[in-house]
Amino acid sequence: MKTTIKKAILPAAGLGTRFLPATKASPKEMMPIVDKPLIQYAVEESLSCGIKDFIIITGKYKRAIEDHFDTAYRLEEKLRASGKETILKELNKLNNINLAYIRQRVPLGLGHAILCARPFVKDEPFAVILSDDVIDPGYPLLKEMITVYEKKKCPVIALQEVPKSEVHRYGIVDGKQEGAVYKIKNMVEKPAPDKAPSNLAIIGRYILTPEIFKILERQKPGAGGEIQLTDALKSLVKKTPVYGYLIKGKRYDAGDKLGYLQATVDFALKNKELSEGFKKYLVEKVKDLP
Ligand code: G1P
Repeated sequence: MKTTIKKAILPAAGLGTRFLPATKASPKEMMPIVDKPLIQYAVEESLSCGIKDFIIITGKYKRAIEDHFDTAYRLEEKLRASGKETILKELNKLNNINLAYIRQRVPLGLGHAILCARPFVKDEPFAVILSDDVIDPGYPLLKEMITVYEKKKCPVIALQEVPKSEVHRYGIVDGKQEGAVYKIKNMVEKPAPDKAPSNLAIIGRYILTPEIFKILERQKPGAGGEIQLTDALKSLVKKTPVYGYLIKGKRYDAGDKLGYLQATVDFALKNKELSEGFKKYLVEKVKDLP
């Protein structure tokens, strides 16, 4: 895909409290769905759009992410010696990507994490991908968003309708539908159900322009005492059009235990080696359910 979006920021400094104790000393971004860590799905999704430069925002206990994307010489030697070429090929698939790691020294929120990437992004448009929002790999959401961006040359944010009872977990937008997109008028981070302007939630895929950095620089803490990307985007909306793109495929909230399990089941059912045995198991299991 030909695009002006060359870089993706992958925020990975969050504490992952919803998965404690699993995330006490290891990154939630490294939690696997079947056999691949969440952050690798995000990287592969970007690669399928021609994005090869990644800026990963890390923090304490996140070194496993760097090791994961590094070459593992001894492991590779062993695999080669035992003729395990398929796994070797799988491991080497990501050899051509460029990675920069920035440590967010204090966990000040998503907006601050994005601001940390500024010196590496400079004045280019870029993608932001939150690894715990997993998109079905068969559905090209990011590609569709980039296509919208290339037409409008304005920020594009992924949206999904959520039940009213869940609006407090998301950034919620107020927008007006204009053909295939929403022109966003306002947005609010994690509102109470009676304060939510709609049930259109922001999902962790953004195509942003560098103007956001100037706003983030001065952004005051918002919901949860954190510097919120949503609050900065709310200010941006007053200066330049910002579009919402309603997602049309399957998305899993893998930052939530139920969503994580749903992703695991669906991905296992689509996995060539696992699907038959796993389906058999599930059918038996369903029979036993109370
Ligand atoms: C972040 C954003 C929120 C968005 C959500 C999507 O929240 O701040 O606006 O709706 O991602 O997953 P978090 O899940 O990091 O609390």
